[in-house]
Amino acid sequence: MTTKVLDAFAQEHKQLLESELRTLVEKLNAPSIIKEAMYYSLEAGGKRIRPLLVFATLSAFEKDPKIGLMAAAAIEMIHTYSLIHDDLPSMDNDDLRRGKPTNHKVFGEAVAILAGDALLTYSFQVIGKTPNEFASCETKLQLVMEMAKAAGSEGMVGGQVADMEGEGKTLTIEELEYIHIHKTGKLLKFSVIAGALLGGANQTQLENLSAFAHHLGLAFQIQDDILDLEGNQELLGKPVGSDSSNEKSTYPQLLSMEGAKKALRQQLDLSKQHLEKTGLNIQLLKEIADLIASRDH
Ligand code: IPE
Ligand code: IPE
Ligand code: MG
Ligand code: MG
Ligand code: MG
Repeated sequence: MTTKVLDAFAQEHKQLLESELRTLVEKLNAPSIIKEAMYYSLEAGGKRIRPLLVFATLSAFEKDPKIGLMAAAAIEMIHTYSLIHDDLPSMDNDDLRRGKPTNHKVFGEAVAILAGDALLTYSFQVIGKTPNEFASCETKLQLVMEMAKAAGSEGMVGGQVADMEGEGKTLTIEELEYIHIHKTGKLLKFSVIAGALLGGANQTQLENLSAFAHHLGLAFQIQDDILDLEGNQELLGKPVGSDSSNEKSTYPQLLSMEGAKKALRQQLDLSKQHLEKTGLNIQLLKEIADLIASRDH
């Protein structure tokens, strides 16, 4: 359940983001097929949780959330690229994403790979477009470097590799935690860090917000694992049972469903404990954390 305040905030900023994403792709001087493939997955109706975290973190600093618009668009582009590649036959081999046939099903594998590449590359250009009145060159460089780290081999890509290497094996909970923290947690955490850097966080606030987002990222992926078993395909917009057909280790598989739900609650509690220490206006972030843990899609 979300309050009316969060609902209104999320709706307003989702519209802002989606209209910016459309403009950003439209203005590209590129072959129409790549623009079409990029936009196909971008506009397919994701939850936009990562952009929402950027905006809500800025609002926790009582700053205008629009300061984070370019960062939010950049993160959503990286996330969307990661989904296009995650669904490829050589990865999870899934046919449905965000309620529509996956990118490679429509455009073929070659264009899907290139659409992912194009979104990833463009994201760095986009975050660099953050207006100078919102961020100094130093802050923008910091954003670029943190985003690269979160998305690359030390972040999401590293997690995806470990996830693939773990297929068909029974992992330890520590190994699975590494996968979740990296494949999902790092980009989610960067969303909060981006808001914090743009909001002018001090060192203590940055540390507490990082810890908040770390636990939230883990909670997010535990719920993703739970939904792969208990979710409804129509609501999720992606197949259920993908993990077991790919012989992945997941939280429910290692800890039982009850154990996974307990781990989720623990991570949610830990995330909120760190949030309380920031001294910021945390109401929206707290509600987003609850939403992430209780979501059905
Ligand atoms: C799905 O992310 C992939 C993971 C990292 C678990 P989301 O659940 O945020 O997917 P969308 O953006 O709403 O489609
Ligand atoms: C993928 O994790 C995380 C990404 C980096 C895309 P999953 O493979 O569990 O994501 P879904 O369930 O397909 O969305
Ligand atoms: Mg995967
Ligand atoms: Mg997948
Ligand atoms: Mg999943």
